[in-house]
Amino acid sequence: MQLDNHQDTSIDGLKERVLELAKRRGFLWPSYEIYGGVAGLWDYGPFGAMLKHRVESAWRDIFVVGESALPIETPTIGVEELFLASGHLSNFVDLIVECVNCHTALRADHVVTEYLKSRGIAADLCDPGIAGACVPSSEKTQQLIDSHGITCPDCGGPLGKVHDFNLMFTTHIGPGTQRKGYLRPETAQGIFADFPRLLRFHRDRLPFGVAQIGKSYRNEISPRQGVIRLREFTQAEAEVFVDPREKNHHPRFDEVANVEINILSKDFVGTASVKSACERNIIAHEYLAYFIARCQEFFIRVGVRESRLRFRQHLPDEMAHYAVDCWDAEGLTQHGWIELAGIADRTDYDLRQHERQSGLQMAVFVPYEAPKEVERIVVRPNMGYLGPKYKGKAKQVAAFLSGISNPEGAIVFDGQVVDPEGYAIETVRESISGDFVTPHVIEPSFGIDRSIYTILEHAYDEDTIDGERRVVLRLSPHIAPVEVAVFPLVKALNEKALEVFRLLRRAGLLVEYDDSGTIGRRYRRQDEIGTPFAVTIDHETIENSTVTVRDRDTTKQVRSSIESLADVLREMLVHGFDKKSF
Ligand code: GAP
Repeated sequence: MQLDNHQDTSIDGLKERVLELAKRRGFLWPSYEIYGGVAGLWDYGPFGAMLKHRVESAWRDIFVVGESALPIETPTIGVEELFLASGHLSNFVDLIVECVNCHTALRADHVVTEYLKSRGIAADLCDPGIAGACVPSSEKTQQLIDSHGITCPDCGGPLGKVHDFNLMFTTHIGPGTQRKGYLRPETAQGIFADFPRLLRFHRDRLPFGVAQIGKSYRNEISPRQGVIRLREFTQAEAEVFVDPREKNHHPRFDEVANVEINILSKDFVGTASVKSACERNIIAHEYLAYFIARCQEFFIRVGVRESRLRFRQHLPDEMAHYAVDCWDAEGLTQHGWIELAGIADRTDYDLRQHERQSGLQMAVFVPYEAPKEVERIVVRPNMGYLGPKYKGKAKQVAAFLSGISNPEGAIVFDGQVVDPEGYAIETVRESISGDFVTPHVIEPSFGIDRSIYTILEHAYDEDTIDGERRVVLRLSPHIAPVEVAVFPLVKALNEKALEVFRLLRRAGLLVEYDDSGTIGRRYRRQDEIGTPFAVTIDHETIENSTVTVRDRDTTKQVRSSIESLADVLREMLVHGFDKKSF
């Protein structure tokens, strides 16, 4: 597969054209326009909402139904403990700086890197952070602003002090209470908090996946890229809980082993099958590789062009605080390569954090195939010695000693060494039937809104039909908001056309009826919203009960009987206009 290493420049101002079409045709528009709009908040109009619904359904088909994952829905408001445990309260910050003159809030690190890049100066803003990750440091960013005299990119005014800004929206839960709440910045934490119940639901067995589609919120500092960076957006996330010893043995790996993907990592750039990427240690293990392949399957199904899709491994300095390995699925758009999804190995980080915060055990008992005989060294308290020595505390000391397994060196209780006469050390043989394991989490996490923008951009095309320029959205029939349009050629045929429209609607197709304007205009409108097929009722329909079916992409037409129309269209929607068997 050939990777496009350039953005599609065949259409001038593609980004603007896509957004203009999206607004005009009812896919997407800025929220609260009548009050001036708010950056980072966008509405889905009627076609956008249906498109989004179908994209989410395609995701559900692959990641919920296809994986037998447990679908759940948890609140968008999270309690403080949740985000103390997850690390979002301390780590989910960006650097902010305000212009003293125009008061615009800016991402400080972005202002500095863009300024230095425009002058050809290499920028290093990082201090080593958690687990060796590199996070832009406020001190270094401030130093660079001061030493280069960097000013506000909007008005040229002086910049204030750089400081951390936590991206979570805060609220209070209940009137008059001091119980803090936060709008979730990822859907994942609701899943982790439910882990003990979900584990029981899954009869205490690993592996299992849990999936959730829902809104997430991030108070982005300056979201300027349309729908790419939003303050409220939809995520589709699966958290797959696995025994860490099994990460390199995905039970269904054979199904995807030969899937070829475009890879960009520090060790490899090019195309390889996920199997060979695993064997060559480009991808750390089969679980990550399996979900990377499923991720590609999803994107291709919903219409992201394979040649403009790549998987890029995070460098250690950009990894989220919870991940040890992460691959971004990136789509090439007029905004450059943008992250559409991340497939991360979150290890046992989240479960251990929640275990610590809640005091509840998150480990799973994994039984062996057959019980094992093991030797263990135990401590037997000698009450004859402990009683007179510790008096009222003797029982407590005995319980402490009984709880020790495989002791090493002197035994200390309450800061004091226990006399060796107070206990005996014995080796016992026992049969054990399994281990307690804290599962690791493999997480495919998708941004639905960015995916939708990319789908629209990749589907957008302009061509010339009968000497006339037309705009056409070549949407995949899997996700087109309208599958079939029905038109009467002239008003006198409205009744027959409505009959056909109702017949197709009863057959379960997404169908739209349109009798306004010329037939040419009606075709153009459907082309612009990406409707794969249009059915026209003409004079011949009255004579022989047949209609024309027009293909959006080629504009070719065929006749079909009304009787078999629903079946013909269903087949065309699955196999394409030319692959029909009638
Ligand atoms: N649970 C993991 C997680 O949230 P992430 O990479 O921060 O990982 C996952 O987010 C996906 O959510 C991203 O790949 C992106 O598509 C989408 N996303 C993140 N922030 C976004 C924003 N401000 N606006 C729109 N989509 C966003």
